[in-house]
Amino acid sequence: MRLLVLGASGGCGRCLVRLAADRGHDVTAIVRPGTRFEAPGDVRVRRMEILEGEGLGEAVCGHDGVASCLGLRRKHPLNPWSRVVSPCDLTSEVARSLVSMLSGAGVRGSRPRLIAISAAGVAESEASLAAPVRWLIRRSNIGISYADLGRMESILGGSDIDWMVVRPVTLVNRASASDRSCVVDRYGLMDRISRIDVAQWMIRALESSDPPGSRKQMIGWKRGR
Ligand SMILES: NC(=O)c1ccc[n+]([C@@H]2O[C@H](COP(=O)([O-])OP(=O)(O)OC[C@H]3O[C@@H](n4cnc5c(N)ncnc54)[C@H](OP(=O)(O)O)[C@@H]3O)[C@@H](O)[C@H]2O)c1
Repeated sequence: MRLLVLGASGGCGRCLVRLAADRGHDVTAIVRPGTRFEAPGDVRVRRMEILEGEGLGEAVCGHDGVASCLGLRRKHPLNPWSRVVSPCDLTSEVARSLVSMLSGAGVRGSRPRLIAISAAGVAESEASLAAPVRWLIRRSNIGISYADLGRMESILGGSDIDWMVVRPVTLVNRASASDRSCVVDRYGLMDRISRIDVAQWMIRALESSDPPGSRKQMIGWKRGR
C-alpha cells in the first residue's frame, strides 16, 4: 500500500510509520519543517505546514491510504491544564481539506481510505465516560482537543469518502505491540492502550479489504490482565 501519514512525528505517528515500513508498505511521512524526525529505512519525508498552501493536496495524490495521527499539542503535554500551542481547529481543518481533496476529482485513480485518530468519549461516545474522566475533559484543556476531534468526526461523517476513526482511551508508550487491543464500550479512569497498539490497529484497518464493521471504533486494552 502507498501510505501517507499525517502527524508522523507524534507518538502514534512514529509508531505507525515504523510498523508500516516494517510491513513493506511504501510510506510517505508528512512532518512540519522545524520538527526533528528521523525516518526509518525507505520512508519518504515531506516537510510542510499542513494547513498552508497546496502541499497536502499534492502529497495525497498517488496514495492508497491516509493515516492521520495529528493532535493538538499542549505546552506541557502531561499537564491537562497547560496551554494549547497548536491551532484549536487543527484536526477539523485538515479533515475539511482531506474531504474536499478525496471526494473531488483531485485524486487520480481509486480513492484512498482515510483513518484518523480521535479519542474515546468524543461526540456520542461521551456517554461511555466514567464520571472522573468526563470531569477532567470538561474542566481542562483536553476539552479543546475533544471539541476539535468532534468537529473532525462530524466533517468526515458528512462526507462520501471512505473514512474511519479510532477512539483510543488513555495512551501510554510501549516498545512493542501487544495482543491486548480490543473494541471497548466504556472509558474508565484506569483504562489504557499503547500508542503502538493504536498504530497497529490503524494499519490493519487500512490493509483490510472489508468495509469496517463500524466507522468509529473505541479501543483499549482488554481488562483483567
Ligand atoms: N494522550 C492521550 O491519552 C490520548 C487519548 C486519546 C486520544 N488521544 C489523541 O490521540 C492523537 C495522537 O496522540 P499522540 O500522543 O500520538 O499525539 P502527539 O505525540 O502529541 O502528536 C501530535 C502530532 O500532531 C502534530 N501537530 C501538532 N500541531 C500541529 C500543527 N500546527 N501543524 C502540523 N502538525 C501538528 C505534531 O507535530 P509536531 O511533532 O511537529 O508538533 C505531531 O506529529 C491525538 O489526536 C490525541 O488527541 C490522546
